[in-house]
Amino acid sequence: MIPDQWYAITRSQDIRNDRPVGVRRLGMDLVLWRSTDGTLVCQSARCPHKGANMADGRLRGDTLGCPYHDFRFDADGQCVLAPCLGSEARIPKSMRLDTHVVREEAGLIWLWWGRRTEPLPEVQIPPEVRDKPELYATSSWSQPVNYTRYIESLLDFYHVPVVHRDHWFNWFDYVGWSGTAKHLGLDGRRRYFAMTKVENSRLSVDGTTLRHDFDLCQEGDPTNRAPMNVTFTFPGMVHIHTEPFDVTIWMTPIDEEHTQVLFRWYEDAHLKKALRLPALRRLIPRMALFAQKRVQEVQDMRVVRQIQPRVTGRQVNRFVAVDELNAKYVVMRDQLKKQAGVTPDETDGAYRVDDADLGADLFAPSE
Ligand code: FES
Ligand SMILES: [Fe+2]
Repeated sequence: MIPDQWYAITRSQDIRNDRPVGVRRLGMDLVLWRSTDGTLVCQSARCPHKGANMADGRLRGDTLGCPYHDFRFDADGQCVLAPCLGSEARIPKSMRLDTHVVREEAGLIWLWWGRRTEPLPEVQIPPEVRDKPELYATSSWSQPVNYTRYIESLLDFYHVPVVHRDHWFNWFDYVGWSGTAKHLGLDGRRRYFAMTKVENSRLSVDGTTLRHDFDLCQEGDPTNRAPMNVTFTFPGMVHIHTEPFDVTIWMTPIDEEHTQVLFRWYEDAHLKKALRLPALRRLIPRMALFAQKRVQEVQDMRVVRQIQPRVTGRQVNRFVAVDELNAKYVVMRDQLKKQAGVTPDETDGAYRVDDADLGADLFAPSE
């Protein structure tokens, strides 16, 4: 994991003000709750007294009460009341919960994982996501895979016609993405399977945001071509813009073996005017997320769960030319870890790049 980053840990809507919620993220058991004015609090879920899970506790005004002996902890983590000692007792300063820095932006809760410098940097949300006017729906689920491999599965699109096929639901992909009006979409299946080549690949770097523009196309058929824009922002956001849909995905480690996914699907810009009610406008994103989780995601995970080694890194992949986004992700991940004072767990060394003219700047330090 890369220190000194904001990690999207859950949706704002998941933390209400009537009860605490437990989540496991970045290898830590956390409890999230809101004080009476709605301020979000994120603390270690282990009670310092005898280790009970604070996520099973109760909110008591602006404190969280432990489920075991009801010691009360305030938003700063300090124990302010131990009922078994009475209200006049002096409570040691060490009776406290670790408290984490959190922010709420773009409908998500962000946890700072790193050194507490003042002021902390801004949460990194690129303009194509931050300024997007469309309504959206966001779903959250977890997968038993290492987050780096999950991220990599969203950094290439030429796996799409290979992996996302043969389920009845994929007919929506065939027809909606590749079908022509002339043939009422019925030529979609053939054209979708033929769209295997990546052309016009261009990568740019802007701080910790990488942008990859390319066409997914059929070799020799200029009419069968899908322009795509993929934006990656560290530590784990992918935004995909194509003609049929726009999505943003945040991937956060639960631990080294599991990943939490926050998947956002935007309303169809074409239907925006026809559908006035926000609830109706969110209907298609909601249905798309349902299908994403139950069909496309299952297809991806069938492959990703079997990947070895389970964590990506230098000298792990044998990249080809059109993998430049993925290659840059691996390089910058190491650079950011080094900047944060972490010794990379992978061996440094040359990258293995076959048949590639990746350009020297790919391996130069990021600006
Ligand atoms: S274990 Fe939490 S109050 Fe005793
Ligand atoms: Fe996929």
